Amino acid sequence: MLQFQVVLMKEILLEHNGSIFRRCTPSDLIAVKEINMKASPDHHSDYVYEVLLAECSEAFIVAEKDDQIIGYVMCATDFGYSNFKKSGLVKRGHIVSLTLLEEHRGNWYGKILVDEAHKGLKEKQCDETYMEVRCSNNGVLALHQGFGTKIKQRLKSYYRDGEDAYKIIIKY
Ligand SMILES: CC(C)(COP(=O)(O)OP(=O)(O)OC[C@H]1O[C@@H](n2cnc3c(N)ncnc32)[C@H](O)[C@@H]1OP(=O)(O)O)[C@@H](O)C(=O)NCCC(=O)NCCS
Repeated sequence: MLQFQVVLMKEILLEHNGSIFRRCTPSDLIAVKEINMKASPDHHSDYVYEVLLAECSEAFIVAEKDDQIIGYVMCATDFGYSNFKKSGLVKRGHIVSLTLLEEHRGNWYGKILVDEAHKGLKEKQCDETYMEVRCSNNGVLALHQGFGTKIKQRLKSYYRDGEDAYKIIIKY
């Protein structure tokens, strides 16, 4: 029974170029945090990873190649004012963190992770999603714009090092 549950938790969502994409499990979190520390300029406390895995596992996706985690996307959901409607609260997705090890970049893995995250957020009944992106990060802006996202506003000194962010939004 236990074995059956573990197999279910590791269900493959997609395969691409020798890598698999699946939902994150608690035993992946150490590797996910290591990738974040190594390959992203922005970090989170252990608590954030654990809570978001518990609350939004549908949109916490890892990429795995040769039995090693090589990247991930981590999301949250909240209720707040719509970025599209003039009034009313909606359920919103939030792409909190997206990182791929440098040696695996440029193979569309980032795009696939984001695509699978959007599917998970839709599954969680989100009406729209937002994310913050460093203003200097043209590549990631291009990646997100491929999904029909648009820039809503510039957030002054959003990052700890003082850099501004663009808040990007997408309607489902
Ligand atoms: C963001 C990240 C996950 C993208 O991973 P990736 O697998 O290399 O991206 P993809 O191959 O899926 O890119 C798809 C498209 O996005 C755009 N893109 C992604 N990264 C790019 C870059 N560095 N420069 C220019 N365009 C880029 C391109 O349009 C690309 O299309 P192309 O293949 O025709 O050039 C990776 O660069 C990363 O981990 N960066 C460090 C952490 C980070 O900045 N995270 C985002 C925080 S919001």
